[in-house]
Amino acid sequence: MRIKELFSQKPEFAEIRGWVYRIRSSGGIVFAVVRDSTGIIQVTVKKEKGEAFKNASEVSLESSVVIKGRIKVDERAPGGLELESETFEIISLAEKFPIQEDYSEEYLLDIRHIAIRARRYSNIFKIRSATFNALRDFFNEEGYYETQCPMIVTSMVEGGSAMFELNYFGKKAYLTQSSQFYLEALIYSLEQVYTIAPSFRAEKSRTPRHLTEFWHCEAEAAWVNNEEMMRFEERMVESTIGSVVDSCESELIELGRDVDFLKSIKPPFERLTYKQALKELGIGEEEEIGADEEYALTIKRKKPVFITEFPRKKGFYHRPDPEKPEVLLCHDLLFPEGYGEIIGGGERVWDKNELIERIKEFNLNEKDYEWYIDLRRYGSVPHSGFGFGIDRFVRWIAKLNHIRDTIPFPRTINRYYP
Ligand code: 4AD
Ligand code: MG
Repeated sequence: MRIKELFSQKPEFAEIRGWVYRIRSSGGIVFAVVRDSTGIIQVTVKKEKGEAFKNASEVSLESSVVIKGRIKVDERAPGGLELESETFEIISLAEKFPIQEDYSEEYLLDIRHIAIRARRYSNIFKIRSATFNALRDFFNEEGYYETQCPMIVTSMVEGGSAMFELNYFGKKAYLTQSSQFYLEALIYSLEQVYTIAPSFRAEKSRTPRHLTEFWHCEAEAAWVNNEEMMRFEERMVESTIGSVVDSCESELIELGRDVDFLKSIKPPFERLTYKQALKELGIGEEEEIGADEEYALTIKRKKPVFITEFPRKKGFYHRPDPEKPEVLLCHDLLFPEGYGEIIGGGERVWDKNELIERIKEFNLNEKDYEWYIDLRRYGSVPHSGFGFGIDRFVRWIAKLNHIRDTIPFPRTINRYYP
């Protein structure tokens, strides 16, 4: 039986399987705390149990064990229950566990494959899993099709310096920065599509919000404008927070997150134009809104906030506003408490000639975008989309300091092992 079920069902007898989390002995009784993926329980083994007592006396931390015994109510035990064992079988006796006191952050990252069994990580990874489930449920309800795009690509989406280059049988290829262009191709057959996949950025940014390999939830929809896409994102954020809080309330609380605050986050979300944001920050129009500025904009806010009307230089694929051509029909969604950008999206340039002009405006090579331009030749339609950084969202919802703690095996500028 799983440990969590023991506490809810309180059977008379049970068999559990797990790992030794704590161990001590006193006055002819061994006290072990055993964990599985669902929780922990105190196990007692008395001297008169013979073989069981011998095994329990010899067992080491993190050994895997199977234990049978009687469930007893005991106020002093964690959670108020304890397992009085009849048998205590060691499946694999652990060598001296390498993490027993405080070790440096770097050392723990070197032995990440072992460090991730800590309870804190079980909590975070359950929240992460719930986030993926919540997104899939939401897109399904909204009538979007899940699809898959290549990770090996030939052209850049988000700026050339941040591409990982590959040798593809003697030719140059790259790891994808975003599946956006492929999703744009798929709207002609499916209209509303999304994908959940890694994106890669060779950015030399060592910050608590950058991974070189991150999980990207991207969507694209035909006949949808920038405003409608923002509404869609509001619904997605509300629904994802709701599902994660529903399924992981105790994990969030254990991590110190205020779940009432999370529950209070409901659309509509505030909107600031880029100009208004600069004004609020008290900085000039020449300056950019980077991580520090996003922190300043969101540290005191209680809800996510959209930044809209970015200047034309933000990205070549964003559609300039026909009524205000100096700004783009795009947006970022910044998350509160200083976390900043978690979504970037908007309407795409869908007219062929306008796209070619925008490619020139950015000094890019038309030849590199041949197939992307092609999409504007055969029945192009207005469309919008966005990219949602799942790791950044998990970082925010669990209120973690560093993005690397959201993912079991983080890839950052100076680490790709284990
Ligand atoms: O703002 P970005 O670069 O936008 C795009 O890639 C668009 N092509 C997406 C689209 O419209 N389909 O990335 C989108 C989101 C960011 O808001 C952020 O949450 C996340 O992806 N992101 C990262 N997350 C972790 N580490 C990084 N290095 C990230 N770069 C972007
Ligand atoms: Mg962005």
